[in-house]
Amino acid sequence: MNLAVYLSGRGSNFEAILAAIDAGSLNAKIVLVVSNNPDAQGLRTAERRGIATAVFERDKFASGEEFAGAMLNKLNEHKVEFIALAGYMRKIPPAVIRAYSKRIVNIHPALLPKFGGKGMYGHFVHEAVIAAGEKETGVTIHYVDEIYDHGVIIAQCPVPVMPDDTPETLAQRTLAAEHKFYPEVLAKLFRRLK
Ligand code: GRF
Repeated sequence: MNLAVYLSGRGSNFEAILAAIDAGSLNAKIVLVVSNNPDAQGLRTAERRGIATAVFERDKFASGEEFAGAMLNKLNEHKVEFIALAGYMRKIPPAVIRAYSKRIVNIHPALLPKFGGKGMYGHFVHEAVIAAGEKETGVTIHYVDEIYDHGVIIAQCPVPVMPDDTPETLAQRTLAAEHKFYPEVLAKLFRRLK
């Protein structure tokens, strides 16, 4: 499975996917890493590993159509069959969503539909979970549609919230679960698709 990973920052989920491929537990090849942010740490990881990278900044294009067209060309050029969003902080253009219907997934660090949507990312998610007094949070993998954190849920993994958790400790526990869960769910999806 030729995979593109989209990211905006650190890229630790990207690294977890790479590690699973290296270990032979995920049958895929990352052929392209895409970012909206030229300074994303994940792009540097990709470069070190000899993986092609592409930066797409919406304001460098005259229209949404041109932006989507350039992105689709790049995906075609690298024969991308599946897209995994891993900390990508922008919307995917509708034309790309249509071209990759049921072939774009996202990971979210909470149990959607709770604690999702615009503005619910990073520490905001974990702060909101603690403020709501939740005893359990988790990780959600879902298909991507045109609304943030909205597409059909594929799989969820629970993570306990401890009474003395801070947003930082909760983020750490959730991220560790993400790193294990994302490659596992992708492996299952790819077995079904191939
Ligand atoms: C993860 O928590 C992911 O669930 C969310 O953004 C974060 C990305 O972290 N969508 P990283 O860049 O993979 O380290």
